[in-house]
Amino acid sequence: MQKPEHHIFVCGSFRGNGGQRGACHKKGSLNLLPYLEGELIDRGLAGVQISSCGCINVCERGPALIVYPENWWYGGVEGESDIDAILDSIEDGAPDAGYLLT
Ligand code: FES
Repeated sequence: MQKPEHHIFVCGSFRGNGGQRGACHKKGSLNLLPYLEGELIDRGLAGVQISSCGCINVCERGPALIVYPENWWYGGVEGESDIDAILDSIEDGAPDAGYLLT
């Protein structure tokens, strides 16, 4: 089994009962997945996996995602330029302070 070098978890606002509640999906977090997947291909980032996930409890700062194993929590990820910046940070090996939740 080959494990990814990086795993991006995009908040889809899912709750334990499978329903969605919270900010991220309302702000279009899951709509960014196709662009994110396309960018991974375009950039040749074969070692990066994407998953949607449940609420990560930073709703007021969403849309949010987490990059592992770096444990970078990003907020305000609302558009393609935001995704570009986050993928740049993975390629550069340094978090983007403009989106980083601290
Ligand atoms: S809905 Fe995304 S952090 Fe809560």
